Amino acid sequence: MIIAIWGRDGTGKSTLADALGMLFIKQGVTAIIDTDLTQPTLPTRVNGKSFSADASLGKAVSGVGTEDAAKYLHQHPKNKRLFYAGLTDRDEYLSYEHGLEAADAAKTFMEQCTSLADTVILDLSGQRTDPFVPAALSSADKIIVPITPNVQGVCWLEAVKPFMEVMKTYGRVLPVVAMITHPALDTIEKATDIRFAAALPFVREFRQNGGDAGSTPAAIRYYKQVQKLYRKLTEVAT
Ligand SMILES: Nc1ncnc2c1ncn2[C@@H]1O[C@H](COP(=O)(O)OP(=O)(O)OP(=O)(O)O)[C@@H](O)[C@H]1O
Ligand SMILES: [Mg+2]
Repeated sequence: MIIAIWGRDGTGKSTLADALGMLFIKQGVTAIIDTDLTQPTLPTRVNGKSFSADASLGKAVSGVGTEDAAKYLHQHPKNKRLFYAGLTDRDEYLSYEHGLEAADAAKTFMEQCTSLADTVILDLSGQRTDPFVPAALSSADKIIVPITPNVQGVCWLEAVKPFMEVMKTYGRVLPVVAMITHPALDTIEKATDIRFAAALPFVREFRQNGGDAGSTPAAIRYYKQVQKLYRKLTEVAT
């Protein structure tokens, strides 16, 4: 199954990808691909490992692409069924270029990952320049779209609607309201005219502790909502 997470910058996509990944590993091998080719997140997501630039997703989607996606999937040291692909901190951005052909290489890479992992989670960038966006939106089984309940969130959604139509995402999108500070979900649904698949609360501790919120009430509410989303995603697959 391919799950894409696509939304505006900073709406909690990577945090959600990691939380969902921890649930999907119960079912099999899970690969999380951080497709943002502007920031090296691999060293923080696969702690304690040093990567050569040759193991970077940037290399995998440059030029004609790769025939061996496995080379770019890195096992999490504590979760044997969890793998990550992304940029390394050794990437030399000038050593390769990502032109329009990168979208073809990204599509091939994504397809190869589906034969290597039971679940592929595409942690997409909000930027149209992300080479994975076309392939992910046209063929992901489900597209989770985190939307913040404010002007920026609603404007982003309005701006991408025509693109979603072109990519025929209808019926595959699971909108999620993100970073809500009060639980008036019905008010938000009325104002936006959207039925949300989950409502992810704002968890102050995520900011303070670099993603580790322990078991504070807000964190518990957050993970309950991630479980709800997980159930919806797995219902679809059966
Ligand atoms: N539910 C939440 N409540 C509060 N803070 C959050 C929540 N989810 C994520 N964060 C924090 O917000 C910041 C951005 O989160 P994250 O990196 O997951 O977003 P993103 O959408 O992947 O961002 P980018 O577009 O830059 O990749 C991080 O500091 C993260 O710890
Ligand atoms: Mg991110």
